[in-house]
Amino acid sequence: MYRDKSCGEVSEADIGRELTLSGWVFRRRDHGGLIFVDLRDRSGLVQVVFSPDVSGEAHESAHQLRSEFVVKVRGEVRRRPEGTENPDIPNGTVELYAGELTILSRSEALPFVLDDATGISESLRFKYRYLDLRRQEMQRNLLFRHRVTKLMRDYLDAEGFMEIETPMLTKSTPEGARDYLVPSRLNPGHFYALPQSPQLFKQILMMSGLERYFQVVKCFRDEDLRADRQPEFTQVDMEMSFVEPDDVISVVEGMLSRLFRETLGVEIETPMPRLSYRDAMERFGSDKPDLRFGLELKEMGDLAGEGGFKVFLSALESGGRVKAVCGKSMAGMSRKEIDLLTEDVRSLGAKGLAWIKVRDGGFESPIVKFFPEGVLREMARRLEAEEGDMMLFVADREDVVLDVLGRLRLEIARRQGLVSEGFRFLWIVDYPLLEWDDDDQRFQAMHHPFTSPADADAELMLQGDVVDRDALASLRAKAYDIVLNGSEIGGGSIRIHDPALQKRMFEILGIPEDEARLKFGFLLDALRYGAPPHGGIALGLDRLVMLMLGADSIRDVIAFPKTQKAVCLLSGAPSPVDERQLRDLHIRLDAVTE
Ligand code: AMO
Ligand code: AMP
Repeated sequence: MYRDKSCGEVSEADIGRELTLSGWVFRRRDHGGLIFVDLRDRSGLVQVVFSPDVSGEAHESAHQLRSEFVVKVRGEVRRRPEGTENPDIPNGTVELYAGELTILSRSEALPFVLDDATGISESLRFKYRYLDLRRQEMQRNLLFRHRVTKLMRDYLDAEGFMEIETPMLTKSTPEGARDYLVPSRLNPGHFYALPQSPQLFKQILMMSGLERYFQVVKCFRDEDLRADRQPEFTQVDMEMSFVEPDDVISVVEGMLSRLFRETLGVEIETPMPRLSYRDAMERFGSDKPDLRFGLELKEMGDLAGEGGFKVFLSALESGGRVKAVCGKSMAGMSRKEIDLLTEDVRSLGAKGLAWIKVRDGGFESPIVKFFPEGVLREMARRLEAEEGDMMLFVADREDVVLDVLGRLRLEIARRQGLVSEGFRFLWIVDYPLLEWDDDDQRFQAMHHPFTSPADADAELMLQGDVVDRDALASLRAKAYDIVLNGSEIGGGSIRIHDPALQKRMFEILGIPEDEARLKFGFLLDALRYGAPPHGGIALGLDRLVMLMLGADSIRDVIAFPKTQKAVCLLSGAPSPVDERQLRDLHIRLDAVTE
């Protein structure tokens, strides 16, 4: 018998009772006569007192206790003497007077203290992840993640979805990243790919008549990592038959409202706002705009044309654009600070940054001389720039202008503390179907190659009416992304269910027929035997949980995350394998492994 209850469950109701508790020694304070131990388990803490008056033996062995020893104690719960209560813990008015102590396990000196993670390097935390996970913050994160997943499962179950597992050893699924490959011992020279997503299998499940599928599923993508990306991450993946975008959107909105209400007590407004891809790019310079602040990008091309500033004029002449964003309360910036900001903007790919301060009732900048007063006033009006603000302009190719100003907008909001509290969701809709890839000189699917074009565009595609680059670029997709506070937390689409259209799509993407057969033959075949119209979405669970908890990185909501170099510091993966294993797999290495 290790315990009658958990440490955190001990309360005033237990006063006078004898209890056995087990847990870790969190802190130990030796006051000569009395030894105090904060005993910890998953549920919380309780203070244990070792007094020679209660048990000389227990008091004697308590001298050996060190941080993170695992112990079992038995004793009486008493009310703490007045003035010694601890208001920081729920049961801070009681303590257990130990009559017996059993040391279940000892701990060596710790590589870091557990009650304060600040200043501990992430690499140390990852190497000793089992200790890191003992910290209350991490336990809270994992518990929260568990509750989120459980609520979503329950919601989807109630909505008629079935959780179905799809293979991990499979074929490549094109989601835009590199594959993790697994060699096949039984089929020399052949490889499985770990799924970048269950995309093809979930579509097949619709063709199998399962109608509503979901899965909480690991996905694998070999891509460059950032704070919100991991090489293996979890999706809440869904697919539905006989649906249009609105049906998918309303299931997700219903699920998220319920989730936020039941975990955080937050009411989300539904229906969530929707913005077309084009408008998002024009107004925010991003397809995942953060709506927690304003600072929208404004058109300045027409006004720039009315002045004599060469930089603007030549950008316009060469088919480029001029847009601006308001640097809220930034008119006080020195030349040096503006130069630094300009450097930042240059490193993002812009040629420069033009600025006009709104100060002392007028305008201040080396370029004001190029513009009539009325034009300057109109610029300020559009940007809602007031006294003390600075208007910031970029003139360049359209994609550069939007991207750079979009990032500048985020930077201004961050610097000036304009990001408000709360959760701002939106859907991005009306995506283009295709995206031109300059490096490969061909179109890529903006979402993935199974995404359906808008109905009208599907007809054009099938008739072969769209051939030239502009026509192809103008095709719309039935795709939608969901964005929360400037992060893409999910994406999906209605799929192509017509084999001829799917074939045409591969053609447009420049995928030769034999290659399409090799890679996706099973999907193309399945489409020929009665495929229902279907569509779905996948939510990034790690990102969603991170945002709900206000964590800085998805690494803080994943039990065993990998580093930026895709290494698991706890287990040491990836690691070299022995010759024999390689031989079995018919693999010879040409690189020397360390
Ligand atoms: P998509 O590629 O948009 O769609 O992925 C869905 C969501 O998964 C999350 N995500 C990631 N999270 C952590 N680390 C990563 N490396 C990572 N990559 C993606 C994002 C993203 O929005 N099969 C389609 C879905 C569909 O069409 O139904 C898909 O995978 O939050
Ligand atoms: P220059 O004529 O290159 O000395 O630039 C004059 C000002 O215009 C400087 O503040 C530059 O940072 C800025 N500038 C230069 N190129 C651009 C551009 N493409 N867009 C916006 N501002 C620019």
